[in-house]
Amino acid sequence: MAKILITGSTDGLGQLAARQLVREGHEVVLHARSEARGQQALQQVTGASAVLIADLSDIAETKVLAEKANALGTFDVVIHNAGVYRANTQQLLHVNILAPYLLTALMHRPKRLIYLSSGMHLSGRPEWTNSPSYSDTKLHILMLAKALARKWPEVHANVVDPGWVPTKMGGAGAPDDLEQGYQTQVWLATSNEPSALVSGQYFHHQKTARYNRAADDVVLQDALLAQCAKLTGVYF
Ligand SMILES: NC(=O)c1ccc[n+]([C@@H]2O[C@H](COP(=O)([O-])OP(=O)(O)OC[C@H]3O[C@@H](n4cnc5c(N)ncnc54)[C@H](OP(=O)(O)O)[C@@H]3O)[C@@H](O)[C@H]2O)c1
Repeated sequence: MAKILITGSTDGLGQLAARQLVREGHEVVLHARSEARGQQALQQVTGASAVLIADLSDIAETKVLAEKANALGTFDVVIHNAGVYRANTQQLLHVNILAPYLLTALMHRPKRLIYLSSGMHLSGRPEWTNSPSYSDTKLHILMLAKALARKWPEVHANVVDPGWVPTKMGGAGAPDDLEQGYQTQVWLATSNEPSALVSGQYFHHQKTARYNRAADDVVLQDALLAQCAKLTGVYF
C-alpha cells in the first residue's frame, strides 16, 4: 500500500485518480484550494484519509501546504496534478510552475513524483518568462521533472500528457478518453513494471511519447530552477 498525495483532487483527473487509488487500497491524501472544496472532495472520494488545504496561486499558502504534508510523514508518491488553463499569467506561473516547484523542494522526498503536462507543451517556449502561456508552463514542468531525474537519481520523476479529455478544464466536447486520461498517473504511482520504474520520461497512455526536445537542455533546466528559486526564496 502506498501513501499518495494528489494536488487538485477536488475535480477532474486528480479526483478520478484519487478514487481509483483508494479503490486499489492505497492511502490517499487529497488537496483542495479551500475548506469548503476540501469537505466536498472528502464526500466525493470515500475512503480518502485526509484533505490538505492551500490555494496554490499563493506562495505563502503553498509553503504551509508543504509543512502540513510533512507533518503527515513521508509520502511514497506525490502527483502534481493541479493546474489552470483559462487563467491570467500570474495564476499560470504560480499554480502550474511555482507550486509544484515549491512542494517538490520543501516536502520530504517521495519515491515517485508525477507531474501533469500536456501535448500543448510542444509549442511552449523553454526560456524563462514571468508571463508564461499555458504551453510554456507545461514545457517548464517537463523541464523540472527532467532536472529532478538528473539530480535525484533515486527518485522516479515522470510526466504525463493525459490527452484532451472532458473535465472542467478540457470542456464537454473534448475528444479523448477520460478514463485513459487518468490511468497513466495511477500506473506510474503504483506499478512495479520496469516501464513504470523509470525517470525523466514523458508518457501518454502508459507509453513514452514525443516531446519537445528543448526540455533536455540542462542549461535551460538549471535556468528554470534558478528563476523558481529567485521568485520563491526556496532553493533545492
Ligand atoms: N483536461 C484536459 O484535457 C487536460 C489536457 C492536458 C493536460 N491537463 C492537465 O491535467 C491536470 C488536471 O486537469 P483537469 O482537466 O483535471 O482540470 P480540472 O478539472 O480543472 O481540475 C483542476 C484541479 O486543480 C485544482 N486547482 C486549480 N487551481 C488551484 C489553486 N489555485 N489552488 C488549488 N487547487 C487548484 C482545481 O480545484 P477546483 O476544483 O477548486 O477548481 C481542481 O481540483 C492539469 O494539470 C491540466 O493542465 C488536462
